[in-house]
Amino acid sequence: MKFHVTTMGCQMNVGDGDWLARSLIAAGFTQAPEAEAECFILFTCSVRDKPEQKVVSEIGRIADRNRHNPNAFIAVGGCTAQQLGTTLWRRFPMVRLVFGTDGIAAAPRALARLAEEPQLRLSLLDFSEAYPERDQSWPDDKLPPKAFVSIMQGCDNYCAYCIVPFVRGRQKSRPLPSVIAECQSLASRGVREVTLLGQNVNSYGLDDAGDGASFAKLLDAVAAVPGIERIRFTTSHPKDLSDEVIERFAALPQLCPALHLPVQSGSDDILRRMGRRYDTAAYLTLVEKLRRACPDIALTSDFIVGFPGETRADFEATLELVRKVGFDSGFSFMYSDRPGTASEKLAPKILPEEKSARLAELQALLDERLAASLAARLGRREVVLIEGESRREGTLGATWRGRDPGGRVVNVPLPAGADYAGRFVAVRIVQAKKHSLVGEAEADHD
Ligand code: SAH
Ligand code: SF4
Ligand code: F3S
Repeated sequence: MKFHVTTMGCQMNVGDGDWLARSLIAAGFTQAPEAEAECFILFTCSVRDKPEQKVVSEIGRIADRNRHNPNAFIAVGGCTAQQLGTTLWRRFPMVRLVFGTDGIAAAPRALARLAEEPQLRLSLLDFSEAYPERDQSWPDDKLPPKAFVSIMQGCDNYCAYCIVPFVRGRQKSRPLPSVIAECQSLASRGVREVTLLGQNVNSYGLDDAGDGASFAKLLDAVAAVPGIERIRFTTSHPKDLSDEVIERFAALPQLCPALHLPVQSGSDDILRRMGRRYDTAAYLTLVEKLRRACPDIALTSDFIVGFPGETRADFEATLELVRKVGFDSGFSFMYSDRPGTASEKLAPKILPEEKSARLAELQALLDERLAASLAARLGRREVVLIEGESRREGTLGATWRGRDPGGRVVNVPLPAGADYAGRFVAVRIVQAKKHSLVGEAEADHD
C-alpha cells in the first residue's frame, strides 16, 4: 500500500513521522507523493489555535480529494489526535486510526491491519507508565546525515499557557542504553549528527521512568558513540539547565555551540504568571555561564507576546532582554488560549490587534538580530555538514546546503560529479544573506 506522511508542529512530530515512515517501509508499504497515496498519515499539532484549525482543514481536503477511492483512509497522530481522539471519526469517516504519542509504537501494526480489514477502525490513545520503546530494526540502508533521537516523552511543567503536558502526557525518560543503541545503529548507517529530542531534555532521567542517568551523563555517552560527530538537543527549560550540562559545551567537542533556550518573556511579572519558575536575572546568569563555557555559542529563543495581562511595559522588557542577550535569532508567537490550560482563565486578554502589533515589532527586532549575527560570520572558517543540493546542477557544479556548528544554513558551491551529502566540508564564509550564509570550499574535511 502506498502511504504519504504530512507533518505539522515541532521536531518531535518530525522525529515521530520519520520513524513511522521507516517502519512502514520495513513492513512492505511504499512511500509515495500525496497524489498517488491511499493511506494518508497526519502528524498534528495543538500548541496554538492556528495549527489546530489547519489539522481540520487538511483532513477535510484529503477526504474530499479521495472521496471516490474506497481504499483511501486517513490516520491522525500527534497532539491534536490525542486531544480530539475518536471525535475525529464522527466528523470524518475516512479517519480510521487515531494515535497519540504513546500509541505510535503500535501504529505500524495497526496500519497493516487497517489495510487488510476495510471495516476496521482503531484508536491508540492510552498513555503508558514507561517510555514506549519502538522497534528500531531497520533494513541496513543508508540514512541521511542528520537524525532525531527521542530521549523522553511528555512534560511535567504545566506552564500556564501550554497544552503539551495534556496532549503528550507526563514526563517519561527513555533508558540510556536504548538511546545509545539507537545512536549506534544510526551511526552505522551514515548518520553523523543527532539531535536529542524531548520537551524538557534537561530534566532527562529525573522522572520515575528514568534510570538515574542525568542529561549530562547522557551527553557523555552519546559523544562516545563512534561516528556521531555532532550532537544537538532541544528543548531546554532555563530552570533545569544545570552547570554540568553547561560545562559539556566546553568539554565535548561533538556538542555543537548552539542552544535553543526559550525565555518566553522579558518581564519578571509575566514569567511568574506563566509559571516558568525563573526570572530574567536567572536567565541572564545562564547566558553568562554559557558564554564563558563556549564564547561562540549561538543562542536562540521562543517568545510569546500578548500573554493575558501583558502591559506595554512588560512587552518592552522583552525587547530589552532581546537586545541585552543578543540572541542569534528567535521564534515569536502570539499568545493563544488553549483549552484546559491555566492561562485560559487569566484576564485581561490582550486585543488581537495589539498582539499582532507587538508580534511585528518583536519580529522586526529578531530579524535585525539574525542579520547582524549572520554578518558577524563573514570571513570565518567553518566546517559545514552538507545535507543536500540546494540548486540544480549546472555544468560547473551545484550549490550544496549544509549547516555550520552553530546551526546556521550555509550554501556552498561545489564542483560537479560527486555526491556531497553527509560530508564535512571546510569553508570560508564569503557572504551573509537574509537567512543564510554562503561559504567557499577550502578543502574536503572528510
Ligand atoms: N517544551 C518547549 C516548547 C514547546 S511549545 C519549551 O518549553 O520551550 C513551543 C513554543 O510554542 C513555546 O516555547 C512557546 O513559545 C509557544 N507556545 C506554547 N503554547 C503557546 C500558546 N498557548 N500561545 C502561544 N504560543 C505558545
Ligand atoms: Fe509546554 Fe512548558 Fe512543558 Fe515546554 S516546558 S512543553 S512550554 S509546559
Ligand atoms: Fe505541537 Fe505537540 Fe509539538 S502541540 S509543538 S506537535 S508537542
